[in-house]
Amino acid sequence: MNNARTIFQQSGGLTFMGRRGARLGAVFATAALVAAACQTGGPAATPGGSPGTASPAPGGSPATGGDWPTDAINIVVPFAAGGPTDTVTRLIAGPMGEELGVQILIQNVAGAGGTVAAGQVAAAPADGYTVLMHHIGMSTAPSLYPDLEYDPLEDFETIGLVTEVPMTIIGAPDFPPETLEELVSHVTENVDTVTYANAGVGAASHLCGLLIEDALGVDLTEASYDGTGPAMTDLLGGHVDFMCDQTTNTTEQILAGEVKGYAVTTAEPVESLPDLPTTADAGMPGVQVGVWHGLYVPAGTPENVVQTLTQALQSALQDEEVIEQLGNLGAAPVSQERATPEAHTQLLSEQIDLWRPFLEAPASPSP
Ligand code: MLT
Repeated sequence: MNNARTIFQQSGGLTFMGRRGARLGAVFATAALVAAACQTGGPAATPGGSPGTASPAPGGSPATGGDWPTDAINIVVPFAAGGPTDTVTRLIAGPMGEELGVQILIQNVAGAGGTVAAGQVAAAPADGYTVLMHHIGMSTAPSLYPDLEYDPLEDFETIGLVTEVPMTIIGAPDFPPETLEELVSHVTENVDTVTYANAGVGAASHLCGLLIEDALGVDLTEASYDGTGPAMTDLLGGHVDFMCDQTTNTTEQILAGEVKGYAVTTAEPVESLPDLPTTADAGMPGVQVGVWHGLYVPAGTPENVVQTLTQALQSALQDEEVIEQLGNLGAAPVSQERATPEAHTQLLSEQIDLWRPFLEAPASPSP
């Protein structure tokens, strides 16, 4: 058992967190689906609700018959604006809004590894106008938060999976290690001073950090943020040393040489990052994880509304620009068969069972 230390606060509402983390195995590697968004894929987010990437034509045709929707739809993003979850949401919001004939608004509700937003959506009216975008953290929260106020399987209807995104291990521009091998030595030898950024307990970056801790046999000193968008800002500024984050938030910075790219966390190399080895090839085979995203509405949402949202999601995932932008960022939309409630529920259920044995509740917050 190890207890990672959390050290400092960051602009934009960083929270202090600790965790009790189980030693994790490479089993996670196989479970990866992904999802994400690109830093460049949409307009800058405006916390509190902002339009998605497209303004639907007035009177645009709904995806299915019936009267729904008649008003704007709010998609709640459980992490800070400008990060990978925000980006993927903005990518699909435009085409979804066009398909549905209404405006899609995006609201960033960060906190507690995405559980604040999920709890908010679980308690929202079951009318389809409040939708949650969440990722792999939906499946790990029940293991990490013993007092979770919602049940991921019982309190939501699934709309469909969205995308799958590899992660990358990256370092600040002046962080000494140049390769993953050097990173291993440096972190091991300087574990009291090296800092690891994440987006809170249960965030993908936190889960990847657990795998790194397990691989190295160390307790990382963690800096927790409301999302890896703000974490990236601090990494670029050298205020934190390294992190693991989705390619949708790191590709541009790696390719531009603004951060150090050490490895991708997938079994296969990522085409858009040809110079990065896989963690397996670079000597950290246990650190394999991908991030899957899906859309949810509160339990009890009428079936025709769920179907309409699923059809809009499927339409968005066939949008050429969505496919191209995700591809440029190392990701891809899921197949149409997986952008369904059935496939989504099945994966969520499998992932809850997969992670549960390895995760324990977070420790009390650091003083
Ligand atoms: C984000 O959108 O900020 C990320 O998905 C956070 C994470 O899970 O690491």
